[in-house]
Amino acid sequence: MPLPDIAITHVPFPTEEADALILAIGATDDPAVSDELRTALDAIGFTGKKGSFARVYAPGFTESALAVVGLGQDHDLNTIRDQVGAATRQLTGFDTVAVETITDIDGAWRAAAEGSILGGYQFDVLKSTPEHELATSRRARRVLIHAPKRVTDDDLSAARASGEAVALVKDLVSTPADRQSPEQLADFAAEITTELPIQATVWDEQALADGGFGGILGVGIGSDRPPRLVRLDYAPEGAERHVALVGKGITFDTGGLSLKPAASMVGMQEDMTGAAEVLAVVRAAAQLALPVRVTAWMCIADNMPSGRATRPGDVLTMVDGTTVEVTNTDAEGRLVLADGLVAASRENPDVIVDVATLTGAMVVALGTRHTGIMGHGDAPDAFLRASDRTGELAWPLPLMEHMAEELDSRVADMQNANVGNRAAGSVFAGMFLQRFIGRIDNDPQAERIPWVHLDIAGSGMSTKSPYGFTDKGPTGASTRALIDFVAAGGEVV
Ligand code: BES
Ligand code: ZN
Ligand code: ZN
Repeated sequence: MPLPDIAITHVPFPTEEADALILAIGATDDPAVSDELRTALDAIGFTGKKGSFARVYAPGFTESALAVVGLGQDHDLNTIRDQVGAATRQLTGFDTVAVETITDIDGAWRAAAEGSILGGYQFDVLKSTPEHELATSRRARRVLIHAPKRVTDDDLSAARASGEAVALVKDLVSTPADRQSPEQLADFAAEITTELPIQATVWDEQALADGGFGGILGVGIGSDRPPRLVRLDYAPEGAERHVALVGKGITFDTGGLSLKPAASMVGMQEDMTGAAEVLAVVRAAAQLALPVRVTAWMCIADNMPSGRATRPGDVLTMVDGTTVEVTNTDAEGRLVLADGLVAASRENPDVIVDVATLTGAMVVALGTRHTGIMGHGDAPDAFLRASDRTGELAWPLPLMEHMAEELDSRVADMQNANVGNRAAGSVFAGMFLQRFIGRIDNDPQAERIPWVHLDIAGSGMSTKSPYGFTDKGPTGASTRALIDFVAAGGEVV
């Protein structure tokens, strides 16, 4: 994983331990800014304005390479995470970088650590550029976070686990589809969890057929690379809560026979982001030994057109017996998730979360930074609070009862898309999924299990210029919030 190692240092700036220093500064008139440094900063007009970044020559202060990043007068932990991340992302060519924050905010070191792992991630394994040429564009391999004496390396475990989770998602999403078939993704998931107290089960195409998983099979049937379902179970002794996570894992979404136009197909290897996130989150839960049971379901298929592919008008039978008329083969995510949600529900978890790059309509509704949230019970609220705590952006959308009839099919129980009607496309998808959330205790009279659906079609990929710790490319949006949500047992805290 191309992300920096982090460690705590207690040596104050300027430290000799590092090849370069990053100073995050709220205001240059802070008494912690030495006269020598202030002179150097004044000379380049650096005032500490939020988002400003500069390389500084400050011989009176340090002989090391020095970069400063502004936090602004009114900053909080989110600002620190973001700006230290931005600086780590931009300061390339140094092996070991030390970070110090000049601020009154408690726990700044933690936000700085998180930011530097997130901003320090870089995916260059597929570049053939020689090592010595890459050296100047490489981000730090090691980051030393300056922290108070009582803080030790052990205090970094949460930042490390969440940073590694996001890096894992980015690695998997950046891996081109030719190197990541459903089988490869499933095997990888089973492999990286063997060292942890996680039990992995993989359904191959035969097992999926035997189990009646018509949604996953119907989507995967057009591809030469057969589909998979993966279940990862982390069940620590004494756990009182059980969170089920279900992820959309389309290794490539061509649209199937309802083929996407060329431009819309570009980047569709990202369509397995949800599956990558649930894998990363269950791994983090086990690494952190969270006292909560987590079951992650990865619904993995390749959506390809071929002589065997599912046609518009075909009817699939989902694993719970529900029949679905496939009116658009490009609305495939909801089909694989339906099977995953039913399978997850059968184990009667306390709460179900699904994560998916589900609808292009999400980008129209909320743009590219917010994750769209739908669901019922207190799960959406619990998730929104978690995302608030981790500084991630999410926003709720309503599930509208009056749209229910749009799910009707003439021939089957439901249709997967409302052809010719694009109104509230993300909500239509959410309402489709809701039908597959089981009842509490599997009691047909009971309410459905609390559920939150995360549509990350917009937030999962950053296509514009980098900002804060966010680089161009996969973002792993909501992964950190999910870890926090799981840590809270999926409850409103
Ligand atoms: N994977 C796409 C959604 C998507 C679009 C993700 C852009 C990331 C970026 C999904 O399977 C899809 O194609 N959805 C269709 C649904 C429609 C056919 C009802 C869409 O959004 O157009
Ligand atoms: Zn699609
Ligand atoms: Zn898709």
